[in-house]
Amino acid sequence: MTSRWRLPQHDYWSTPFAESLLRHLDLRPGATVLDVAGGHGIPAFYVAEQVGPGGQVLSLDVSAGQVARARAIQGSHLPWLRFECIDMRALPADLPGYDRITGNLSVMFFRPNRFDVIQGLADHLNPGGQMVLTFPSLGTFDSLWRRVDQEMATWGLLAERRRLDAYIAERPSAEEGREWLNRAGLHRIEAAEYPLEVATGPGQALLHHPLLRGGFLDDVFECFDDQRVAERVMTQVSEDLDGVLPLIAQRCVLTGWKPVSGT
Ligand SMILES: C[S@@+](CC[C@H](N)C(=O)[O-])C[C@H]1O[C@@H](n2cnc3c(N)ncnc32)[C@H](O)[C@@H]1O
Repeated sequence: MTSRWRLPQHDYWSTPFAESLLRHLDLRPGATVLDVAGGHGIPAFYVAEQVGPGGQVLSLDVSAGQVARARAIQGSHLPWLRFECIDMRALPADLPGYDRITGNLSVMFFRPNRFDVIQGLADHLNPGGQMVLTFPSLGTFDSLWRRVDQEMATWGLLAERRRLDAYIAERPSAEEGREWLNRAGLHRIEAAEYPLEVATGPGQALLHHPLLRGGFLDDVFECFDDQRVAERVMTQVSEDLDGVLPLIAQRCVLTGWKPVSGT
């Protein structure tokens, strides 16, 4: 089938994660799909085109701005695809069951109790249905965190090192994800990881890297008591590219199936 709604080729974060999600997603015409943390439609547009007019896709996001952006991109296309502003941690009780549940770059937003969110999603999966979620798993950008920790140690920043440690440990591992799907009663579970190398230059190129600045480096800056010290430590780190590269993210795909009763 030719695709009009391909994944955006110039998105160097969502698209590679969505590609790994689609590697595991069993998509077929006529399926109903719930897409959580849908953003502005990766991979909802692609999925909607694949399921066709006999299917239904509901893509949820908690941000009204993201939903508005997705609807603007959609216009009058793919009328069996809907974007709604809903918190995936508190799904409406009247939401029906779906054949597939997808969530690209979603699991990190399942806080504070990630298992409860997975269980809530599994409750909305039809028997025989599949869930596929992606997130950057434990190990993502470890070379950078090690170098930051080393620099913090040089500066004698004990409290900052403890906070950095806690920040790193908070990232879920693939194994933890597998365990959640298992506890939620899914079977044929896979927790696969695909490395993604992120290119960067030294100095400002690293400190203002579009993938790193939001969500990763901002969190590290929050580990510091004094932002002037943070700037100096991080500038030092950013100038030592050899100590940081290769910069690898782990694309984790969690997938499992809801048993058909009796199987
Ligand atoms: C990293 S983006 C991923 C968006 C899209 N799936 C993609 O691959 O480009 C994560 C999205 O999750 C949304 N989000 C965060 N917390 C959420 C929640 N509790 N319920 C629904 N969406 C949420 C954010 O607004 C954001 O659009």
